[in-house]
Amino acid sequence: MSGLRVVEVARGDERAVAAWVDVAVTAERHDLGDHAEYWSQAELLPLVGATEGLRQFRLFSGFLDGEVVAAGRMQLSLKDNLDLAELHVGVLPEVRRRGLGSALLTHIEAQARIAGRTRVEGFPSWLPDGPEDGAGTTGAEFARSHGFTLTLPDVQRQLHLPVPDDLLDALTREAAPHHAGYELRSWAGPIPEDLVVSWLELSTTLATEAPTGSGVHENEAVDVPAFRESEVLQAAQGRTMWHTVALDETRRVVAYTQLAETLPDNPFLFQWGTLVHRDHRGHRLGLAVKVANHRAIQAGSDVAGRRTVTWNAGVNDHMIAINERLGFVRGARGGEFQKQLD
Ligand SMILES: CC(C)(COP(=O)(O)OP(=O)(O)OC[C@H]1O[C@@H](n2cnc3c(N)ncnc32)[C@H](O)[C@@H]1OP(=O)(O)O)[C@@H](O)C(=O)NCCC(=O)NCCS
Repeated sequence: MSGLRVVEVARGDERAVAAWVDVAVTAERHDLGDHAEYWSQAELLPLVGATEGLRQFRLFSGFLDGEVVAAGRMQLSLKDNLDLAELHVGVLPEVRRRGLGSALLTHIEAQARIAGRTRVEGFPSWLPDGPEDGAGTTGAEFARSHGFTLTLPDVQRQLHLPVPDDLLDALTREAAPHHAGYELRSWAGPIPEDLVVSWLELSTTLATEAPTGSGVHENEAVDVPAFRESEVLQAAQGRTMWHTVALDETRRVVAYTQLAETLPDNPFLFQWGTLVHRDHRGHRLGLAVKVANHRAIQAGSDVAGRRTVTWNAGVNDHMIAINERLGFVRGARGGEFQKQLD
């Protein structure tokens, strides 16, 4: 018996979200230092318990003697991947190895079952000098001890902003002759109505078009109303979404990249998907959209001193090459771990 009392954070409970963030961030920074990613209370509050949009986001606090000492989260896709729950747990360093992480994980897995999920996925990360499979590191060993299997090793990369203008200019000049038949378009905020369907038809395939290792994912759903609800939630989180797409002659989106600008107290901006449609590869569109998107954000917002963070599968050579040309440097390692629930 660990003695942990687990309580789900209620929608709109500002104090509970703040207490959860304190513990989650402390746990993560203990193992990853400056590489630990960060979500502020203000950024989380609108998401917690929301039932609209594409994904549900739930937080669980673990109490010992009336104090929060463990923080867990669960994300459920609502329109696709209906058998899967993504989860994460963190425990304060001073109370580790007492079974608290296990108790919280057991609780969240039970909630996943109640939600009808039969598989769970976790994403522990560790310092850059750790091994590719995470052997001997805290999160990976914890996951393995609970029956999870590593399905895809990943590497974090970080880009210190701003990217120098002369580098952006040189990369733009280099790529331009290769994609002369395409129009590049950049903007901040929601996806324009004329592009949203072809945007979704492409972006929802990222889960299967990017390397998956031995992990199981299905494509995301093309659901414009739910996507629009997710955009509203992102705005409520204080996030500005920066997009660049390449359009072919029929004005369909054939390449895209997406960057989430967070609130200023967050050291990181999150690089989300970048994908070029199979039929349109070989035109340097991946490089072109990423360069154009960073140019747009640097022109439209003050991001100096912050970092863009991204994760790539260790085997994703093309994406890694593009990122390194832009100046991304290696950060933490991590991995997708999956398990079938009994
Ligand atoms: C991973 C984490 C949640 C574990 O919390 P915890 O309360 O110490 O976990 P438990 O006491 O329940 O450990 C259960 C088992 O996991 C394994 N384990 C946990 N930490 C380990 C470590 N540092 N090295 C090797 N094995 C470890 C052990 O098998 C342990 O059983 P044992 O103590 O009987 O040997 C905690 O270390 C943490 O917050 N780490 C940072 C965040 C993270 O990596 N989360 C996991 C991603 S889902």
